[in-house]
Amino acid sequence: MWWDAIQQVLIPEAELRQRVQILGQAITDDYRGEDLVLIPVLKGALVFGADLARAIALPLTLDAVCLSSYGHQPVSSGTVRLRKDLDDSIAGKHALIVEDIIDTGFTLQALWRHLQARGPATLRTCVLLDKRARRRVDVPVHYRGFEVPDAFVVGYGLDYQGRYRNLPFIGILHPECFQEAPPAQSPPCRRS
Ligand code: IMP
Repeated sequence: MWWDAIQQVLIPEAELRQRVQILGQAITDDYRGEDLVLIPVLKGALVFGADLARAIALPLTLDAVCLSSYGHQPVSSGTVRLRKDLDDSIAGKHALIVEDIIDTGFTLQALWRHLQARGPATLRTCVLLDKRARRRVDVPVHYRGFEVPDAFVVGYGLDYQGRYRNLPFIGILHPECFQEAPPAQSPPCRRS
């Protein structure tokens, strides 16, 4: 398998699909009649955001921001960089941030402050994965997919050094993949 680098499947595809439908239904119920703007955080929430948008039965609009906080390291640098801002104003609208995972909370906190300053009617967050045990700052999570253990996970949009985003499930990487050598040179992190 090309995903031999995965030590354990944490959340299988069917479970992801089911949970995303439940989140979509909850958001549909909460925002009925409102002007909802969905804001996936690229690139990690690309896959989740696309599925979630289609699970919401409302005439929403989609924007996106692109942030980087990890560079190519498996631990947060604590410094959040905005690489792409919103295209349109969210003033007076109901903005919902869609994030792949919350770990320390620094990324979401920085984005929350950035978007709150744009004057939305409301600002909420929808996070697929929550590594609650590692939280360093308090950020509101209004919609949560799954709580996950303190392990580095990939798949369904989440990456390690740019790879594994296209896995259809969430999995834990083999520990060898975090060795000093780039994964491209250390099997099983990159088998074809
Ligand atoms: P935080 O700022 O520490 O909360 O980190 C949030 C960001 O770090 C997420 O948007 C992800 O891009 C990345 N991240 C945190 N944990 C993981 C993980 O286990 N796998 C992949 N990316 C992660």
